[in-house]
Amino acid sequence: MDDIDKIIESLEKEIKILFSSDNSGHDIYHLRRTLNIALHLQEKEGGDRFIIAVASFLHDVHRIIQNETGKFCSPEESLPKVKEVLEKAKINDPRNERVLECIRLHEEYNFSNSGKTAKDIEALIVQDADNLDAMGAVGIARVFAYGGAHDVPIWKPEAPLPEGNWDEGTFRSVSQIHHFYEKLLRLKDNMNTDTGKKIALERHGFMENYLKEFFKEWKGEK
Ligand SMILES: [Fe+2]
Ligand SMILES: [Fe+2]
Repeated sequence: MDDIDKIIESLEKEIKILFSSDNSGHDIYHLRRTLNIALHLQEKEGGDRFIIAVASFLHDVHRIIQNETGKFCSPEESLPKVKEVLEKAKINDPRNERVLECIRLHEEYNFSNSGKTAKDIEALIVQDADNLDAMGAVGIARVFAYGGAHDVPIWKPEAPLPEGNWDEGTFRSVSQIHHFYEKLLRLKDNMNTDTGKKIALERHGFMENYLKEFFKEWKGEK
């Protein structure tokens, strides 16, 4: 077990209970997958392994606050809680401030009104890792889990498909299939790293095939 494994183990002890009640696709398994993809990207693209590991594993504390309060909570607003988790897990590293910065920036999109500001490779990798977990087979499962948890219908063919920018905080999807067009299908052109782009292209193709089949079956075609 290397140092990173030990750090993640102690963080997991602190956050496991917090994330145990999530049924919207932001559970501990999402954190573990994001961590694993982020570490893979770090091996190919570089950057500080500690910052990338800790930030990717703690990035979605804001979702838990949101579940508890029923109100939107931005990543930035979750930082005091993340600091508390780091303190409880006794992770006192001078790089903690940079971990917090990556978490603050993890939900930037080039198709949102605020756009992208992240420059450091660590923040760019955490963004890519989180977005890759919103794509492909797992991404599809997470759309429907999220939609189910928030009473969003599967598909409303009469509602026009979205155009223009999309913002996590203010947008409410008409249907779960609409969410593919608002966000998921735009992610392949939102990747920061070459390794992220490559994986995104494969997952994008899988989602396109899924949607083709979905619309075919929706019409009752064989
Ligand atoms: Fe998030
Ligand atoms: Fe996430």
